[in-house]
Amino acid sequence: MHCSLDLDSVHRKGSAEVLRVEDLRVEFCLPDEDILVLAGIDLAAMAGQIVGIVGESGSGKTVTALSIARLLAPPGRIASGRVLFLGQDLLGLDAAQMRSIRGSQISMIFQNPRASLNPVFSVGKMLKEVLKVHSGLQGRAATIRAKELLADVGLPDPDSVLKRYAHQLSGGMAQRAMIALALSSSPALLLADEPTTALDVTIQHQIIQLLLRLRQEHNLTQIVITHNFGVIAELCDRVAVMYAGSILEEAPVAKIFDSPGHPYTRGLLAARARVGRHTEIENIPGQVPELKNRPDGCPFHPRCAHARDICRVKVPRLEQTAPGHHIACHRWQELA
Ligand SMILES: Nc1ncnc2c1ncn2[C@@H]1O[C@H](COP(=O)(O)OP(=O)(O)OP(=O)(O)O)[C@@H](O)[C@H]1O
Ligand code: SF4
Ligand SMILES: [Mg+2]
Repeated sequence: MHCSLDLDSVHRKGSAEVLRVEDLRVEFCLPDEDILVLAGIDLAAMAGQIVGIVGESGSGKTVTALSIARLLAPPGRIASGRVLFLGQDLLGLDAAQMRSIRGSQISMIFQNPRASLNPVFSVGKMLKEVLKVHSGLQGRAATIRAKELLADVGLPDPDSVLKRYAHQLSGGMAQRAMIALALSSSPALLLADEPTTALDVTIQHQIIQLLLRLRQEHNLTQIVITHNFGVIAELCDRVAVMYAGSILEEAPVAKIFDSPGHPYTRGLLAARARVGRHTEIENIPGQVPELKNRPDGCPFHPRCAHARDICRVKVPRLEQTAPGHHIACHRWQELA
């Protein structure tokens, strides 16, 4: 699919672009066939912006984040596209250059923080290791910095937390420790894959507040993946709605809630209105297509009440429909 995200859209003006993904295509090379999992993703984040990616299970959210960080493992393979980080295409870097960027400028946190922390090292050992590699800090200086980082992410009693192992932390504490680790290299970009999903509602809210504070205090640009429109509403500036490996709509959060333009987004929001604001997204009628049987034309057409002949044969481009608002639907004008 051709990239049509408007480079001059309003949200870009006046500040630096940290991330721009252009027409990113990813395949999984399985023994009997290659499956196209990302069918041309376009995404952008300005410095200090928090951009959400929302979509049903299997839509390609995690594969998108892993591809941006070049952490996608075989059989996954980036087939084409560009991932511009501060203007540099990450897809052109060799493994060593990429490791260095990942360790220092791009960090990633995951859904299950306890499982993501190394179980055989204490929090202190993990933090001090990263500080040694990236800041050259050792001994007392590293301990002081590690305690500052733990305090910065709101962990009380950093002395005690430094000595603890993953299994000795609650889910919320473990996510804060993961975030401290992610911040220890002072990254410009944080990729957060469902950072609140495994946590109870009160702790979810605290982690959202922490991510907002990191943006305010450190101007940290964030890509936040979630199933939850409540998280999008509280945390994000912009949101991309993903479906079957494509972005179907991308806009400022207020626009998505006030005037969603894509039938899929409307369906998700209508389901949310039925089940309550702070729940995971509800499935709308019909099944997410199996990617190995990707429908021709608009990927949403088998579930779309508005589908016409053109929808079954021609892939709609993600086009700008208003300043900063992008929709991939042949009929967006008629349906507006
Ligand atoms: N190792 C793999 N081998 C083959 N296919 C894979 C592999 N990992 C992911 N996929 C496929 O890629 C697609 C996108 O997966 P991805 O994990 O990105 O979805 P997601 O949107 O993050 O879903 P969830 O909300 O459940 O986390 C899925 O259809 C999945 O089947
Ligand atoms: S392109 Fe057609 S099938 Fe796809 S969402 Fe729009 S109206 Fe529905
Ligand atoms: Mg995922």
